[in-house]
Amino acid sequence: MQIARLGIASFVMIVGILGFSSLGFSHGDVTPQAVDTAGITPLGKDWLVENPFTKKTKPKEIKRIIEVGCTAYNQNCARCHGLGVVSGGTAPDLRYLEKDAYGDEWFISRVRKGYHQNGTTKMPAFEGLMPQEAMWALRAYINIRPEDDDEAAVKGTGGSCAELDFDKILK
Ligand code: HEC
Repeated sequence: MQIARLGIASFVMIVGILGFSSLGFSHGDVTPQAVDTAGITPLGKDWLVENPFTKKTKPKEIKRIIEVGCTAYNQNCARCHGLGVVSGGTAPDLRYLEKDAYGDEWFISRVRKGYHQNGTTKMPAFEGLMPQEAMWALRAYINIRPEDDDEAAVKGTGGSCAELDFDKILK
């Protein structure tokens, strides 16, 4: 009797611990990392709905933008959307987002507001945690990731920001 009760108590405890730790992982309550946007021209206070970082942006600044986007991605998005922007299935693969203005608008609204369903946070809101320069840098980084999985994993550096190959990226 005594043993049986103990057994149940520890079983409940283990389930409790497992439940808690998996909650931590799946619901994004990990402290978001500040993003250093030094070197990127400030975009002003009004929220843009189209990516201001385009092929017309000076190559030197684009390099910095993509580096910032890569770092911000690894620190804030990779744990759900996958290293190197190759999704493992937990959250959508962001390489397949529309690349046009509609895609820009969708992207920025999701990143600002996050995604909440039935009272749970599936994706945290990033507005107030990072400036829009960082969000558009994220978009610029995601856009240069190869859609082909093998290419993304091998040539695309698999997520290492130090190994970004700008000769290829800026071609
Ligand atoms: C805690 C996990 C989590 C984190 C962290 C997270 N996301 Fe998400 N994200 C999700 C989930 C889950 C969805 C799918 C929501 C839905 O059903 O539309 C999503 C959806 C999105 C979408 C819409 C995708 C589509 O196909 O429509 C974008 C864009 C996005 N996330 C960008 C980001 C960016 C950028 C970051 C980092 C700044 C980030 N997310 C961080 C979980 C996360």
